[in-house]
Amino acid sequence: MKIFLDTANCDEIKALLPTGMVDGVTTNPSLIAKSGRDIKQTIAEICALVDGPVSAEVTAIELSGMREEAKVLSELGKNVTIKVPMTTDGLILCRELSDKGIMVNVTLCFSAAQALLAAKAGAAFISPFVGRLDDLGADGMNLIADICTIYSNYEFSTEVLVASARHPQHFVDAALLGADVITLPPVTLAQLYKHPLTDKGLAAFLSDWENTGQSIT
Ligand code: E4P
Repeated sequence: MKIFLDTANCDEIKALLPTGMVDGVTTNPSLIAKSGRDIKQTIAEICALVDGPVSAEVTAIELSGMREEAKVLSELGKNVTIKVPMTTDGLILCRELSDKGIMVNVTLCFSAAQALLAAKAGAAFISPFVGRLDDLGADGMNLIADICTIYSNYEFSTEVLVASARHPQHFVDAALLGADVITLPPVTLAQLYKHPLTDKGLAAFLSDWENTGQSIT
């Protein structure tokens, strides 16, 4: 399962690149707003930092405006993936861009029916928002399971990109279901490394080692 970072903060991305775990980046208008920076500068900088796909989202809601924005965004880096909302116009643009060989990430997916339409429109990625479904008392992972089954039934190449992930269990559940990608806030990626028994065990090893008075180097 690939790991994308869900952030528009270049410092956060730079800090995590040495881990070798960053396979791509997703942004959205809220994350760009949080960064406080210009979208074009930010996307271009992220594209130069990361080899994998970098999702940049259009903000127009009708087709011609989306198309113009997609053209501008796609020129910011060879690895830009155009993110479009799960709307009729969004999927029309998805088909247009896919036919030109431009990768599209269809975002704000909350149903298996929407995911099937996005795949038929040639999306490279579908982004089901698991955390926002959980917030409503539903189980977002049921949606991931349904989409994985449907895509497998018809051998769609669209990758299931688990979005709106909030905690390490989402990471594990996504992997158990065979999702292709998960996008994680940097803080959640950092949490994946941690376990209290690892900390406790390491402290005990270091204490015992100190008592030996030895040094390896
Ligand atoms: C990523 O592509 C999504 O925009 C993001 O994961 C949404 O996360 P949120 O529901 O925590 O805002």
